[in-house]
Amino acid sequence: MVAKRLALIGESETLAISAKAKAMKAAGIAVVDFSLGEPDLPTPDPIKAAGKRAIEENFTRYTQAPGIPELKQAIVDKLARDNGVVYQTDEVIVSAGAKHSLFNACMALVDPGDEVIVPAPYWLSYPALVHLVGGVPRIVQTAEADDFLLTPAALEAAIGPATRALLLNNPSNPTGMAYSRERLAALAEIAVARGLWIIADEIYEKMLYDAAFVCTAALGEAVRQRTLTVNGVSKSYCMTGWRIGYTAGPRDVIAAMTKVQSQTTSSICSIAQKAAVEALAGDQGAVARMVEVFRERRDRVVARLQAMPGVRCRKPAGAFYVFPNVTAFYERLPAAAEKTHPSVRLADYLLEEAHAAVVPGIAFGAGDHIRLSYATGLEELDRGLHRIDKALARL
Ligand SMILES: Cc1ncc(COP(=O)(O)O)c(C=O)c1O
Repeated sequence: MVAKRLALIGESETLAISAKAKAMKAAGIAVVDFSLGEPDLPTPDPIKAAGKRAIEENFTRYTQAPGIPELKQAIVDKLARDNGVVYQTDEVIVSAGAKHSLFNACMALVDPGDEVIVPAPYWLSYPALVHLVGGVPRIVQTAEADDFLLTPAALEAAIGPATRALLLNNPSNPTGMAYSRERLAALAEIAVARGLWIIADEIYEKMLYDAAFVCTAALGEAVRQRTLTVNGVSKSYCMTGWRIGYTAGPRDVIAAMTKVQSQTTSSICSIAQKAAVEALAGDQGAVARMVEVFRERRDRVVARLQAMPGVRCRKPAGAFYVFPNVTAFYERLPAAAEKTHPSVRLADYLLEEAHAAVVPGIAFGAGDHIRLSYATGLEELDRGLHRIDKALARL
């Protein structure tokens, strides 16, 4: 038997579908993959060159546990430049991806039995990360009509004596929605007044297509003192495989996270850290070009989905996901042998009938929806959406 803490972490509902999609691809079927959680574009050349240089220069040993000073400085500079929030280098820690940053943050802040508020739809790793440290995810529903954003009233109502933190993803995976300054400030005010920590996952910061990004920690000094800003280079610089994320926050929490990290991974990949310095401190032109590519795709995907009878699709502000409501099709789905959630059955149907891989919304705590990623070329997107349209019409 394995440790009890793992009993609370379920098998991913998406696993079966992605395994099936992989098997179909291996069998030569041209599956259009709308399930990807990473940019399809390559890492920009100057960043790759910095990684190669690090190897050539034998920068290949353990580094300082919280990250090399050069990268911590680049992060501090980035937070000041892009977000208008001032940190010192000892208020920053580099980890092996933003997911690792989130885990270390939970280890540092959450005691067994502590509750962490997680708005739904949520990124599927949030409840698992909270469970792993013995915490209790307190899932709070949001409304589609309100762009799936947490309301101050819902936050207030969810806070109890055991509440320790609020985990907020802005812009959001899976909904693509982003918070306005007013809404974010109202939530932050409540969190501060009630003594909560805010774990602000801002990994999709750069992928915002209509409005300017609002960084939670930049809302004021009182908020900054209760916020851990989690970000990284995976999405903004097409560097998912390099595994570099970071956290900025109050010195004592960063020191606690450093303790966790030094005893679990010693340090982060030296080569990837050098590449991340180039990403954050170098020319930012590639980011702007990528955002334009994604904006065009978003507009195309949303327009096509909105034109499909029965599909209800709000226009997301950011990230690279759309999260349409597909309940209109649930009653028309072929009967399933076992009791499978309709969002899973619809995803399965689309894989079989349209050769299109999507993620069922139930995986994100929102069973009325499916998630489509547009981290795929326009032609491919068009082909897949055409097939989805036809398959849904046949239902
Ligand atoms: C909301 C959110 N946070 C964090 C991550 C993890 O990013 P990283 O690859 O830097 O660990 C992802 C990746 O899918 C994500 O969607």
